[in-house]
Amino acid sequence: MRTTIRFLKVTEKKQSSYLQDASILLALALLLYLHLIMEVLLQQIEQHKQAITGFSAPNTDALEAFRIQYLGTKGLVKTLMGEMKNVPNEDKRAFGQIMNEFKEFTEARYDALKELLDAQHVDASFKGFDFTLPGDNLPLGSRHPISIVRNRIISIFKRLGFAVAEGPEIEDDWHNFGALNLPEDHPARDMQDTFYINQDPAWLLRTHTSNVQIREMEKGHLPIRMIMPGRVYRNETISARAHCFFHQVEGLYVADNVSFADLKQTLYFFVKEMFGQDVKIRFRPSYFPFTEPSAEMDISCLICGGTGCNVCKQTGWVEILGCGMVHPNVLSNCGIDPNKYTGFAFGTGIERITMLKYQVKDLRLFSENDVRFLNQFTGAI
Ligand code: DAH
Repeated sequence: MRTTIRFLKVTEKKQSSYLQDASILLALALLLYLHLIMEVLLQQIEQHKQAITGFSAPNTDALEAFRIQYLGTKGLVKTLMGEMKNVPNEDKRAFGQIMNEFKEFTEARYDALKELLDAQHVDASFKGFDFTLPGDNLPLGSRHPISIVRNRIISIFKRLGFAVAEGPEIEDDWHNFGALNLPEDHPARDMQDTFYINQDPAWLLRTHTSNVQIREMEKGHLPIRMIMPGRVYRNETISARAHCFFHQVEGLYVADNVSFADLKQTLYFFVKEMFGQDVKIRFRPSYFPFTEPSAEMDISCLICGGTGCNVCKQTGWVEILGCGMVHPNVLSNCGIDPNKYTGFAFGTGIERITMLKYQVKDLRLFSENDVRFLNQFTGAI
């Protein structure tokens, strides 16, 4: 009863101050509550950390369960992150940091569990494996027969003091024909069916390696003793005996007093080194615009030894190259005085020599990439 009376006596002023106190109290209580939430969250995180450390994943299913429970889209890390809204503003920063650490901690544990499991798998798959056994043989590639023969030709001529030069496959008319004493409209151009790129000015795919002779002589450094291997192109119908691209080796020796006897001895040495000491040679007169005199050289047939067979068309001889003394016009076209210098030249097909050496019957085999063919050269050098 007394209290009631007292209460009725309370003045207006006092009333408002009570209200203020009450709201402060309320605010304090709220703050306390919010801090409590933070406390509780931190405690929970500690407990989760312990559970995570104690987690073991004996198989991939368990590992996946871990991932879903903790790191999945509805997993614990995401859920706790969602609590950020309940954390008081001044604690948000600290809570954010704690949560990031927690996330990293959980991810690190996941990685560790995964690594452990992977290692166990590797161990299991090597169980009973004898590490002292010798390894499997690695299949060895083989050099292409054209490379084998080209390298062999180079090494034979190197011993005679010949250097190696190369030239362009896309060539102008002058270096492929003109300078080689084959002026435009010369009928001998018909001997080499040409792939032209341009007519005027004429650019073409070189039809022989003789263009490199010109390029080397133009440099004007004498004496020249060189061989020039490379790929050449002709507009031929592809068959067992002809192709639109093939390989040649050109030879050139220009100096004082080079004679046809030098040419013969050089080529004789070459074929004996290439095909064996018993091989015989013969020269037949021939015609090339860039040499005078010109000849074609035959070797005794390797298949029948000269008695006559299909390969030599019953003649006992097979043609292997064209050669001759460098024509004086060719020397002067390159700025070399033909009254002072002489030279010999020759050109041979690498495919032709390879076919004779290894008894390959079809030219197309060289460019078909058939491993059954290529494998047969494993170990050859
Ligand atoms: N260039 C000729 C050809 O492709 C081959 C040749 C013959 C080259 C005689 C020469 C040579 O250097 O002197 O048919």
